[in-house]
Amino acid sequence: MSMPKVSVGGSSGFDVPRHVAIIMDGNGRWAAARGLPRAEGHRRGVEAVRRTVRSAGEIGIDILTLFAFSSENWSRPQSEIRDLLGLLRLYIRNDLAELNSNNVRVRIIGDRETLSPDVKRLLEEAEGLTRRNDGMTLVVAFNYGARQEITRAVRRLAEELSAGRLSSSDITAERLSQFMDAPDLPDPDLIIRTSGEQRLSNFLLWQSAYSELVFVPTFWPDFDRAALEQAIFEYSRRERRFGGLAAAGS
Ligand code: IPE
Ligand code: IPE
Ligand code: MG
Repeated sequence: MSMPKVSVGGSSGFDVPRHVAIIMDGNGRWAAARGLPRAEGHRRGVEAVRRTVRSAGEIGIDILTLFAFSSENWSRPQSEIRDLLGLLRLYIRNDLAELNSNNVRVRIIGDRETLSPDVKRLLEEAEGLTRRNDGMTLVVAFNYGARQEITRAVRRLAEELSAGRLSSSDITAERLSQFMDAPDLPDPDLIIRTSGEQRLSNFLLWQSAYSELVFVPTFWPDFDRAALEQAIFEYSRRERRFGGLAAAGS
């Protein structure tokens, strides 16, 4: 099938998902295919992040969530972890001012408590500086694991219970949602995973209940606006039913 020409957001376009989340995968394989070190794949991955953030803003996506480092990624070699943390620091130092001037609001999800004080401070700085921006929201999932997020939420709920501020009959899905890392944000409409892997790898398990999943073969460093538009096009052809029946006439 030839790739349809897509024009999202414009008059000839179609519905743009409000919240797009991306599992940015395939940096290592991108590098290996070129005989380069994995670190080079990660470095080029940051360039893909820049492109994607810009494109998402242009397309009119409200919320873009990027899975940058998982709770399980600590099991990688120390040298690779150092590279990834170094790139996070570099990205925030180099790009924060521009994100801010583009009216992007930065949010962080994941476990911050176990991060080193300097990384924690940088993440707080990014959130603090952009707090009042009302353009696109960029959510960075760093040291993020969905089971860990749900566990933290349950723990906080249990604390409310034992303090007598809630009773067990107050526990509903909505209430538990309020204890997640970014409770004010809507669930992702579309989750994209690059590199051909077809799994969630502990990403947004609670929030993805009714997300559309699109898996693309592209390795993350090659991801660009055309790939994003193609994924959105695929999304636009899906019929979301949320357990109900298809809308009449659709
Ligand atoms: C994504 O690329 C980056 C992170 C998970 C941090 P990978 O490093 O997972 O690349 P592959 O999957 O080994 O190709
Ligand atoms: C998921 O990719 C995590 C991020 C993209 C940050 P992984 O490469 O860690 O996932 P698995 O190990 O292939 O499932
Ligand atoms: Mg991977």
